[in-house]
Amino acid sequence: MTTPKHMVELRDACMQFEEKKVLNGFSLKVEPEERLVIMGQTGSGKSTILRLILGTLRPTSGSVFFKQFEITRLPRRKLQQVRRHIGMVYQYSSLLSSRTVRDNVALPLEELTDKSRAEIDKIVDEKLDLVGMKDSKDLLPEELSGGMKKRVALARALVLEPELILLDEPSAGLDPVIASVIDELIISLSEKSKVTSITVTHEMDSAFRIATRMGMLYQGKIIEEAEREKFKQSKNPVVAQFLSGSTEGPILEGSLDAITKK
Ligand SMILES: Nc1ncnc2c1ncn2[C@@H]1O[C@H](COP(=O)(O)OP(=O)(O)O)[C@@H](O)[C@H]1O
Ligand SMILES: [Mg+2]
Repeated sequence: MTTPKHMVELRDACMQFEEKKVLNGFSLKVEPEERLVIMGQTGSGKSTILRLILGTLRPTSGSVFFKQFEITRLPRRKLQQVRRHIGMVYQYSSLLSSRTVRDNVALPLEELTDKSRAEIDKIVDEKLDLVGMKDSKDLLPEELSGGMKKRVALARALVLEPELILLDEPSAGLDPVIASVIDELIISLSEKSKVTSITVTHEMDSAFRIATRMGMLYQGKIIEEAEREKFKQSKNPVVAQFLSGSTEGPILEGSLDAITKK
């Protein structure tokens, strides 16, 4: 099998949880420095895709590559090393509630490097500055708004200078103005640090702001992928329905079937 030259590649990945097939022949290639957004309905398998790339979940079949590494075959130790090059921003930010902003951001550096306290402080300051949170260093997560938590989660994802960041519904639960601010921040950070990003979301406005390229996940596969402007004009009935929010089309039919079968 040839080694891929892409930043990320999934080849024919299937993921089944007991009876439920979530991904079914999912294939995707992500090139360096692009901002790929994968859209899909809630429950369609978006978070699952990110977990497969991060290697916290192994596919039932198929393979997942990060650069030259086949994530699905790496021994645990090597996987942990490789994972340092990938930053993850979880849907609910997942900050440790008992630790300050500074300590949350410092955590990956403390756990995974042997840098001194002074070096760590310098990096933490720099990353908090990037996301506009330098003045909130000593606050606890409960003292932060949703948008501020997301900024801290972004800073934490960047401390190890990753080549790839994975963002799970970055604007979920934020009000529209704050959501756009976070989207703009994602764009400027990815441009500044030349990092590749994969964002999964069901929020269209956010998707169109962030993406350089977009993919539509439906019934376990990418059914359409294109540069942002092309994607907008897609004639694929599922994409067209998702983008217009119409009740007419294949999407609701499928889920109605599922409802009436229950
Ligand atoms: N660890 C798991 N065990 C069983 N089912 C799971 C697990 N993780 C996800 N699922 C199921 O897989 C489907 C897709 O989940 P997910 O990837 O979280 O969707 P999305 O992020 O698009 O909302 C859901 O039906 C979910 O219940
Ligand atoms: Mg999810």
